[in-house]
Amino acid sequence: MNQTNRNKPFGFATAAIHCGEEPNYNTCGNVVAPIHLSTTFARKQVDKPTGGYDYSRTINPTRKALETKLAALEGARYALAFGSGFAAVSMALFATLKAGDHLIALNDVYCGTKRVIDGVLQRRFGVDVSYVDQTRLEAVEEAVTPRSRMVWIEGLSNPLLNMVDIKALADLAHRHGMLLGVDNTFMSPYFLRPLELGADIVVHSSTKYMSGHSDVISGAVMCNDDEIRKELAFCQNAIGAVLSPWDSYMLMRGLKTLAVRMERHQSNAMTIARFLENHPRIKRVIYPGLESHPQHELIKRQCSGFGGMITFELTDNGNKRAACDFVESLNHIALAESLGGVESLIEIPSLMTNIGSSPEDCDTLGINDLMVRLSVGIEDVNDLIDDLSQALERC
Ligand SMILES: Cc1ncc(COP(=O)(O)O)c(C=O)c1O
Repeated sequence: MNQTNRNKPFGFATAAIHCGEEPNYNTCGNVVAPIHLSTTFARKQVDKPTGGYDYSRTINPTRKALETKLAALEGARYALAFGSGFAAVSMALFATLKAGDHLIALNDVYCGTKRVIDGVLQRRFGVDVSYVDQTRLEAVEEAVTPRSRMVWIEGLSNPLLNMVDIKALADLAHRHGMLLGVDNTFMSPYFLRPLELGADIVVHSSTKYMSGHSDVISGAVMCNDDEIRKELAFCQNAIGAVLSPWDSYMLMRGLKTLAVRMERHQSNAMTIARFLENHPRIKRVIYPGLESHPQHELIKRQCSGFGGMITFELTDNGNKRAACDFVESLNHIALAESLGGVESLIEIPSLMTNIGSSPEDCDTLGINDLMVRLSVGIEDVNDLIDDLSQALERC
């Protein structure tokens, strides 16, 4: 199973199961990486940490096994695991930006990421930021200044599910001496691998699809460049927002089924998107797999699938609470924030995950109180459709 002895790299599903977890034949031949809870590691000589391990904030065998798996899945040379998706986003930004730098972020960036950018980077650390509609490359080009250092996008944006031409944007960024960072949470590396398209840094809220079971808050950053990796490792150790050994194990466990889960998320989502598209109470459906999605052709070219997220808007029947009535009438689909778990989760972005966005920002982007975001789980699709149907009838 040793990847380094093979002349052909593993396929995605094989890597998800085996990378980082080769059996240790010197001990017991375990097929699952052990959970090393030890916070410190004994050595025989002052200047020789045993196996390179000294202290678990800096390096831990279980986290290292996870980081090997994460790197293999994203097609990266390096991966670093953090205590949450926002720790990962923050570390990626802290490791690459300094006071006086200019950041160009997408205009519908997840409002929590905007909170880090505006509230920490801009307000406290003097990094300038411009928010730009990055589906228009000319708008990015116009925003570039001599101090621009990084472009930040989401593989698929939250909650509007927009996608940018990553290869074209990476070329543009590099032409101007900028880095391209991509939050790939919504697509997962199973469907989208931004580093292979020219991005410099990829981050994940691995709380979502990567772990897949709504039971571990975690984040990851992947890159290929030695210097970026060095800065990230410095921040990981210096700031200390690391993932615990237990959570590293939980995330590894979830990752082993990422390929099969993503296939099922996608097939369920496609069936539900078609059902919603034809329902009289639905005004519009945003799903990357529908021909009506504005970047459908790009997504077909750039990704190996369409994912499991659907955003849709109810028709305005005069009831301003129609979306609330609808989500509160569901029997099985949980009304909850988050996404990417095996169970379907539904929410109203303007009233829940995006509550921190100003009403003006929501208006400009077209996020309103009739808009619903559905993270399609891997249940039997007919049960999901029955539940959506009865709730649509009732609202
Ligand atoms: C796109 C995206 N990035 C980052 C995060 C933050 O992740 P976490 O909740 O793991 O800190 C989220 C959370 O919803 C997200 O949707």
